[in-house]
Amino acid sequence: MPVTPAYDRDDERQRLQKQYTEIATLAGGLAHEIRNPLSTISLNLELLLEEFEGSDSPKDRRICGKLQTVQKECQHLNDILNAFLQFARAGEIENEPTDLSRFVEEFIEFYRPQAQEQQIEISPHLAADLPPVLIDPSLMRQVLMNLVLNAQQAMPKGGRLELQTNCRDDRVVLEIIDSGSGMTSETLSRIFQIYFSTRQDGSGLGLPTVRKIVEAHHGTITCESEPGKGTRFVISLPVTTSET
Ligand SMILES: Nc1ncnc2c1ncn2[C@@H]1O[C@H](COP(=O)(O)OP(=O)(O)O)[C@@H](O)[C@H]1O
Ligand SMILES: [Mg+2]
Repeated sequence: MPVTPAYDRDDERQRLQKQYTEIATLAGGLAHEIRNPLSTISLNLELLLEEFEGSDSPKDRRICGKLQTVQKECQHLNDILNAFLQFARAGEIENEPTDLSRFVEEFIEFYRPQAQEQQIEISPHLAADLPPVLIDPSLMRQVLMNLVLNAQQAMPKGGRLELQTNCRDDRVVLEIIDSGSGMTSETLSRIFQIYFSTRQDGSGLGLPTVRKIVEAHHGTITCESEPGKGTRFVISLPVTTSET
């Protein structure tokens, strides 16, 4: 078998790296370019709707209905762009030593009103005196938000959401367990694939973003799920040592 000289492999790696950076910059720029006119469109739709709302004329009601459809599509596009930009930025981390239990507690306080509205009972089991982990708080909040929103979508009639932290050897472990619909093994095997979604208006970027963020923190994420039995996500992060 022919052996590629080391300098050729380096050249190839550099070429690919340059190509990747170029595509990532192009895609990020495109998303930003679309977002601005989209927000102008949304704003003007809002103003148009205000003009027609309250009118009794059947023609105005029809116009109103169509404007609302366009507004919904704009919202969907905006959600997709936000999910895309979140994914693109998932590797840029600014770490702070953090007590994960306190971090999850704060998240629960923020999420509780929405959980109550959706009849979701939150059950926290947060270990005291956890060793600190290095995390980027705003990215890790995105991780929790994405996982909790997925859990919520799997429990449309309400249910139970457990959030647990504990320490195993030199890792801090966070578990997010829901009593929702669960997944088939076919779905489970694809959840971290970019653009994989079983929801009609899903972006399919939630879990790939979660995994990218967790891996940028030198962590791992696994998932267990069974139809009708709910879902468990386990995130494991390395404990901060003086060298990290
Ligand atoms: N907690 C969960 N319970 C059941 N299914 C889930 C759960 N979390 C994720 N999934 C499945 O994984 C898919 C991908 O999730 P995600 O990447 O967040 O994309 P999206 O939410 O846009 O569909 C979902 O469409 C759903 O089928
Ligand atoms: Mg999602």
